[in-house]
Amino acid sequence: MKLICVSNEQEVGLEAARLIASVVRIKPKAVLGLATGSTPIGTYAELVRMCAEENLDFSDVRTVNLDEYVGLDGSHPQSYRYFMQKHLFDKVNIDSDNTYVPDGLTEDAEEECALYDELLESFGYADIQLLGIGVNGHIGFNEPADCFTPETHVIKIAESTIDSNQRLFETRDEVPRYAITVGIKGILCAERIVLIATGRKKAEVLKATCLGPVTPQMPASILQLHPDVTIIADEEAFSLVPFFGDDD
Ligand code: F6R
Repeated sequence: MKLICVSNEQEVGLEAARLIASVVRIKPKAVLGLATGSTPIGTYAELVRMCAEENLDFSDVRTVNLDEYVGLDGSHPQSYRYFMQKHLFDKVNIDSDNTYVPDGLTEDAEEECALYDELLESFGYADIQLLGIGVNGHIGFNEPADCFTPETHVIKIAESTIDSNQRLFETRDEVPRYAITVGIKGILCAERIVLIATGRKKAEVLKATCLGPVTPQMPASILQLHPDVTIIADEEAFSLVPFFGDDD
């Protein structure tokens, strides 16, 4: 794992965008594995700026998002499709036919999951996979569990994740209870992975991700087994990793 500690949230976004942009410039038909949430907003803003001001070209890029809430359609402001349109797809020269997010309204979730895995496989998986990390260590919606699930699957969202994501909905009851998520295989098959994290609330899970045992109870710990992972985080998020923090 390569760890990059920067001073603030804005720098996290800039560093992550630089990595993604370098992949796109080397390989114009790159497959980008993308995440939603608060953390990548700065990354997407910087990619939008690079597209407008530095000729970063998305015309042949394909994107595959990690997850979507079950029950929300793409026009719902809290759906991950809506998020992606708002923060990236509507603001760069990407072909919308080349952007993939699981269908949260599918009538056959099992088939949707199987098709999503076929899509990933047909693309040869992501050239670079962007990840955030949940306060419980989840990646995508791979929540803490007794075993890792390799395939794309429907997951019951953990109570701690519902608590955390409640901030984006009017009431806790409105937070969907299920999501479709790419599984651990779909993530680990990416050529390169970049995980971003900010703030003190991510410090414990970042420490466990980097230094703890590899366990499905801390899903991000599986990243220790991937040969090309870069974690970009601010000082607060890295504050419990001894190399960067005050911890001894
Ligand atoms: C969303 C996703 C999640 C988030 C995680 C962190 O597509 O994959 O794993 O990355 O919940 O979310 P934020 O960035 O809001 O703290």
